[in-house]
Amino acid sequence: MKKYFTTPIYYVNDVPHIGHAYCTLATDTLVRYWRKKLGRENVFFLTGTDENSQKTVDAAKAMGKKIPEYLEEMADTWRTTWETIGIEFNDFIRTTEERHTKKVHELFTKIHAKGDIYKGKYVGKYCHGCETFLKESELDEAGNCPDHKKPPVDLEEENYFFKLSKYEKKLLKLYEDNPSFLEPESRRNEVLSFIRSGLEDISISRETSEFGISLPIDKNHKVYVWFDALINYLSGLPDGENSEFWPEAVHIVGKDITRFHCVIWPAMLLAAGIKPYKQVFAHGFFTIDGEKMAKSLGNSVSPIELAKKYGNDALRLGLLSSFEFGNDGDFSLEHFDDFYRTRLAGGVGNLFNRVIVLIHKFLDGKKTEGQGTHSTSPGQTRDEGRISELKTFDRFFEEKKLKSAIEYFFGVVDSANELLNKTEVWRLAKEDLEASKKVFATLLQKLEELADMAETLLPETAPRMKKMLGDEEKVGESEILFPSRV
Ligand code: MSP
Repeated sequence: MKKYFTTPIYYVNDVPHIGHAYCTLATDTLVRYWRKKLGRENVFFLTGTDENSQKTVDAAKAMGKKIPEYLEEMADTWRTTWETIGIEFNDFIRTTEERHTKKVHELFTKIHAKGDIYKGKYVGKYCHGCETFLKESELDEAGNCPDHKKPPVDLEEENYFFKLSKYEKKLLKLYEDNPSFLEPESRRNEVLSFIRSGLEDISISRETSEFGISLPIDKNHKVYVWFDALINYLSGLPDGENSEFWPEAVHIVGKDITRFHCVIWPAMLLAAGIKPYKQVFAHGFFTIDGEKMAKSLGNSVSPIELAKKYGNDALRLGLLSSFEFGNDGDFSLEHFDDFYRTRLAGGVGNLFNRVIVLIHKFLDGKKTEGQGTHSTSPGQTRDEGRISELKTFDRFFEEKKLKSAIEYFFGVVDSANELLNKTEVWRLAKEDLEASKKVFATLLQKLEELADMAETLLPETAPRMKKMLGDEEKVGESEILFPSRV
């Protein structure tokens, strides 16, 4: 079984903030789960940068830089940000790369040859923030783009159009045949009603763009940035649609860009005679302390800064446990600090430290026989007990319920802490050493389960947990997993 995960490719007119990090960390966490389950070679993870946009030109100009120099710097910033916070992608695609241009030309030519691209005139209102034409009905009361709070500009251009309208029925059939083509359900319903309300052909070239990929059939036009960007999912995959990872793609995107991914992209693929991807999962947006994240509000938090203070694993879990993946929510910096202190330092960290210290103290660091039989239900062997516990975790991952998976992990932490406190094992060990051995064995079993789940959830901490758990015979040295003073 193969799995292919992607994040959106991000615009380079700005540096990454924790909204982008949220999507990338969530995808990386899903990837880690599947790599552990299927083997590293069976999962491919692609991220990258979307560079052929007017935003790029404007941002480079504003900084007084030449476009190629600006692009190099920004692509490097995005790539190193992800590497710094512990993202393990297989490849990083930039839409200014030759391999991408080639693929865009290839798809464009195929779709054109099919007769699905024609020349026409476009008169409409264009929002440069969204990089899309907006209908009058989509504007707010002041006539502004509701997302960018700016009036769209009037554009009248000779454009090439893609016959999106031709794919209305085919798309509906695709959705009907593939119940999980777009998740969560609420997004699926939104997109389905959008398709049912009637699709219009879309303009896919710009005569006025200063920068971008030229059309293979007309050098005076540049490919519309979204038509170009979506193709990254094929250009970034070795062998593109002929790869063993296609069509196993799961595109993780924010809910803001579902229409592009769930209407235009599958129609482009159908037109090019390529099997559509397997799934789009559209996650929600979060506010910071109740406020929309915006440069002007000064609350556009850098993932690097947060990770520097709390560590990469804390950033990952803090973000992913704030609200369920797929929903909207809030990320509170105060809650995050509290989460770090109580759940990570005081919960997991403290548990590991206490258990290992006590085993050194009372059992000379030795693991005892019959380990773990204590916690299984009557009639269950140790392995059955473990598998049934992990099943819940697996189920949450199958459903991409990342917050639930994290809660499950903390449920095991809490049950271990409870056992420790209820049995007062440090006292029991003095009164009845044999009885305490059983408790220690159960505790160790729980720690092993946690270290196992941590390989997915806390990838930098997991090897340290495993080291503390030692070998078959003895536990390792105790260490502080999450320092309480950050
Ligand atoms: N370049 C396009 C995507 C092309 S994909 C073929 C783009 N880029 S973007 O830089 O604007 O990134 C948008 C994505 O960033 C969202 O879809 C979402 O995943 C993420 N987020 C940005 N702000 C966010 C929040 N406040 N909350 C959650 N995710 C956020 O669109």
